[in-house]
Amino acid sequence: MLKVEHLTVTYGSTQAVTDISFEVKEHEIVSLIGANGAGKTSTLLALSGIVEKDSGSVWLKGQDISRQPAHKIVQMGLCHVPEGRNVFPQLTVEENLITGKTICKNMSKAELNNWLEEQYELFPRLRERRRQQGGTLSGGEQQMLAIARGLMSDPQLIMMDEPTLGLAPIVVDEIFNLILKIQSLGKTVLLIEQNANMSLSVCDRAYVLERGHIILTGAGEDLLDNPTVQKAYLGI
Ligand SMILES: Nc1ncnc2c1ncn2[C@@H]1O[C@H](COP(=O)(O)OP(=O)(O)O)[C@@H](O)[C@H]1O
Ligand SMILES: [Mg+2]
Repeated sequence: MLKVEHLTVTYGSTQAVTDISFEVKEHEIVSLIGANGAGKTSTLLALSGIVEKDSGSVWLKGQDISRQPAHKIVQMGLCHVPEGRNVFPQLTVEENLITGKTICKNMSKAELNNWLEEQYELFPRLRERRRQQGGTLSGGEQQMLAIARGLMSDPQLIMMDEPTLGLAPIVVDEIFNLILKIQSLGKTVLLIEQNANMSLSVCDRAYVLERGHIILTGAGEDLLDNPTVQKAYLGI
């Protein structure tokens, strides 16, 4: 589904990501874990064409997307749910969702309603709140809205940047359950998390990023048993 080769990202003199290569196979949940500043967000921003790549190539379903503009990459089936949710606070839940349908210009009302209906099935709480302003939702609901808005673009691969950051434990569980549900709908997920324990438990495979380098990779359950991971990320 996604193949990244020798990706490097720099900001001025700061090298955020150094020559990383990894892949995500169809229907997998792959986690990228690492401490603050490890380069996780920069990796996603480079994949979705929001920040420039210094070098490296990115392939989505065999197509080279390394030089494609961000809006094209979304249309090709890769969507990015950014860190910090970024819902439009003044727009209603439903209006926020519609902004995720980037090509709704020629879409009939019925067709658009079908798309909304699909999200409301997956996120019943958004249906109840569909006329409420985005900014008045709880943190967990805003995160659900951000994910649902991403799904409106009908992605094959959805990338989420720290979707559980700052949420209460019970809401964190809910978000992880939703991620598994999204996978069961046939989507592929690339997940960035500081919550190593949970993300290694739900993912198929993971990569550990340290200061811009991938230092470890393996199945989620194997990494949970890995002494380096336990010491650095699980506090064991
Ligand atoms: N816009 C930016 N300008 C300069 N440096 C940045 C910028 N964004 C991130 N960095 C730096 O790049 C490194 C990786 O950051 P980031 O990708 O946000 O890491 P993570 O998401 O793993 O916390 C950090 O050293 C950070 O300070
Ligand atoms: Mg980050």
